[in-house]
Amino acid sequence: MASAQTAVVTGAGSGIGQACAVGLARQGYRVAVADVRPDASATTAAMIHEQGGEALSLAVDVSDSASVQRGFDRIVGQWGGVKVLVNNAGIVHQSLLEHLSDEDWHRVLDVNLTGMFYMARAAIPLLRAEGSGGRIVNISSVLSTVTRPLNGPYSASKGGVNAMTRALALELAPSCITVNAVAPGHILTPLTVPMFTPAVTRAFEERIPLGYLGQAEWIADAVLFLVSPEAHYITGQVLFVDGGYNINGDLPNLEFGR
Ligand SMILES: NC(=O)c1ccc[n+]([C@@H]2O[C@H](COP(=O)([O-])OP(=O)(O)OC[C@H]3O[C@@H](n4cnc5c(N)ncnc54)[C@H](O)[C@@H]3O)[C@@H](O)[C@H]2O)c1
Repeated sequence: MASAQTAVVTGAGSGIGQACAVGLARQGYRVAVADVRPDASATTAAMIHEQGGEALSLAVDVSDSASVQRGFDRIVGQWGGVKVLVNNAGIVHQSLLEHLSDEDWHRVLDVNLTGMFYMARAAIPLLRAEGSGGRIVNISSVLSTVTRPLNGPYSASKGGVNAMTRALALELAPSCITVNAVAPGHILTPLTVPMFTPAVTRAFEERIPLGYLGQAEWIADAVLFLVSPEAHYITGQVLFVDGGYNINGDLPNLEFGR
């Protein structure tokens, strides 16, 4: 990059968001590290500083539009503008839909979908002010298309992320701002490590065509590509980074009749 540009990453205190923030800083971006847990965003910002990068640690709750606006005000005060938004913050709440409370339904939708809307809405005027080449990348999930019982609210929120990605891509295309989603498969992060018991890990290794769980850095690699100049003609897409999980309709250990 000719001169340092600003990237904002939500949920950057952990897992995939942290890998994106560190990766963007290595590419020369000044990174606004936003997380609802200030200690976590401070840790990621310190990692970036240790590697010689520029970071601003922000306490932002993406589900609260006033908190989102305060975060952007600090970024503009410090650095003047925004070129890249990585909408990554997300939560999981496992429950059958029939037993799910109003509160738990709204919490998942508020963070995973409405939070991405609040962030994008606040970022759009800043992205436009930078001229063409702005980027939004939303972190969706393979569970936006294939799903499992207990993941109803999560899948609904991520299906909404895919739809909103396409709508935003159309609305921002005239400004040459691209909007895409990355849909991770099963990635080892603090969110999922408790779920991946040895039996669950073995079952996923059998079900994932490439045969292994993913790492946060591999999702960050896809995000770094989508924000790069080389990806300027890609918009409104959902890129699955899942070892092939979403295409696997195989029935293993069966011989089919002819
Ligand atoms: N890990 C996986 O296997 C996987 C798979 C598919 C999609 N994803 C998606 O990737 C994203 C990151 O997941 P992860 O595995 O790194 O999770 P993680 O729990 O390790 O990190 C999520 C971060 O988001 C922050 N956060 C939560 N609520 C927030 C809020 N209201 N405002 C701001 N920050 C908030 C948390 O404090 C945390 O630091 C999520 O959107 C998740 O749905 C993860």
